[in-house]
Amino acid sequence: MNDAPTPREHWSGTLGFILAAAGSAIGLGNIWKFPYITGENGGGAFVLVYLLCIAVIGAPVMICEITMGRHTQRNPVGAFKALAPRSSTLAHLIGLGVLLTGFFLFAFRDWGWGTLMVILGLLIFRYSWTLVGAMGVIAGFTILSFYSVVAGWTIGYIWKAVFRQLNFADVAVAKEYFGAFIQNPAWAIGCHFIFILLCVLIVYKGVKSGIERWSKILMPLLFLLILVLIIRSITLPGAAAGVRFYLTPDFSKINTGSVLIALGHAFFSLSLGMGAMITYGSYMGREQNIFVSTLSIVFLDTLIALMAGLAIFPAVFAQGFGPDAGPGLVFQVLPTVFHQIPFGAFWATLFFLLLLVAALTSGISLLEVVTAYFVDERRWSRHRATVVFGFVIFLLGSLCAISVANWDRLAWIHGLLVKVFGSVKGSFFDVMDHISSNWLLPLGGLFISLFVGWIWGTKHAVDEIRHGSHNFADVHLISLLAGLKDDPSHSSEIHVITLASLWGIFIRFISPVAVLIAFLHTIGWLDLRP
Ligand code: PFF
Repeated sequence: MNDAPTPREHWSGTLGFILAAAGSAIGLGNIWKFPYITGENGGGAFVLVYLLCIAVIGAPVMICEITMGRHTQRNPVGAFKALAPRSSTLAHLIGLGVLLTGFFLFAFRDWGWGTLMVILGLLIFRYSWTLVGAMGVIAGFTILSFYSVVAGWTIGYIWKAVFRQLNFADVAVAKEYFGAFIQNPAWAIGCHFIFILLCVLIVYKGVKSGIERWSKILMPLLFLLILVLIIRSITLPGAAAGVRFYLTPDFSKINTGSVLIALGHAFFSLSLGMGAMITYGSYMGREQNIFVSTLSIVFLDTLIALMAGLAIFPAVFAQGFGPDAGPGLVFQVLPTVFHQIPFGAFWATLFFLLLLVAALTSGISLLEVVTAYFVDERRWSRHRATVVFGFVIFLLGSLCAISVANWDRLAWIHGLLVKVFGSVKGSFFDVMDHISSNWLLPLGGLFISLFVGWIWGTKHAVDEIRHGSHNFADVHLISLLAGLKDDPSHSSEIHVITLASLWGIFIRFISPVAVLIAFLHTIGWLDLRP
């Protein structure tokens, strides 16, 4: 067998990389989820907390992922394999902890969880840090399976908007309609299939002529659509109340819970914790600037999330609805709002098209993580990997699609899960969402920052970042901010506060602690409520 690495495709330039990575980051999370969690958590105050999470934790972790990818030129599993030491005490300690937890659970006769923990502990001993990369590939499957179901709903709603079927007199009617729509297997599975097919077609074409080419078309389209919708929304009579709600901070609504929601969402929104950015970073050339690229991706992602709020809240307030409608905001309240304004069907079509475009550029990055693993590590052809795993994800997603309201149609799987784990909250769709958003992404983020901070080492990472971004590591932050970085008296050998030193501190201490606290709180092992 020929083991020589296949030449790796690269982005054609920095813009291509930034648009593709921003395309991954900007998705349903920005347009569907961010506005409603903002609505439920105090408007402007939540936005501020979110911005803080992005700056202190999101951006530093993104730098870690992109750097690992570019340095190794490999998928997440390959990247960890290449960088991890032969034996890691930290990994052994974690493995031992998990194993002991498993035995402890056996003592309490919790056989399902206990067995899972023992298996996990043994896997940690065997595969050490590489397991973090594998978790990313698994997250690619689980996230895309439920993500594509929601993306499928947007395809269905585009169709229905075009044919003027979203004529809801009030939200109750819209809710009933939506409930019937998502429970109709033909619509739910059919639209989910179309979405997966679109992802497969793009990823099949490869990095440059598939992902990059389509990101360069779809991202400007997305920007244009959202701009048009904002203008429509803020020019409606009575829109000012929505703008005020969105931009005026109400700090009384901020508590530990909302801070943790902001942190979790920052991870999901920036596509962090599962190696999507490792994968996209692996198609980067060494001359490209990792720091500036990261700032651009984070900026674009945050900008679009803020813009989505401006497209939605003014219209919602103008028509007299409340901001805290939860997940139904986009599929129930908005169609009702559009129905009440002139040319409503047109606006509804544009809005759901926007949602689809955003979902598509994220969906392809999820499929690319899985594809890159099979191409790099298993030597599959790209074509075979995309088609086979597109189909597998279609099957998994179909289970999400038909179980979205309850388990009636999948009673046997439900029975099995209950037997193993004692109880199961929500539908199969919720289980997939829960596993990825509450377990795989935070744990992935935690281990990626621990790995770069303490195992691979910030020194090696900074050496990689230096290529293409000299300012990040070698210029005193104060001189940089003062515009004196080229002045001879400011280029001494000893630099205390560089961007790199700040980043190192965030990665080694702040991110792991914050993510661990958030994780323990989410799984219920730590109660931080006052
Ligand atoms: N960032 C995407 C969103 O906000 O919708 C979701 C996502 C895409 C998460 C890709 C993770 C990922 F790898």
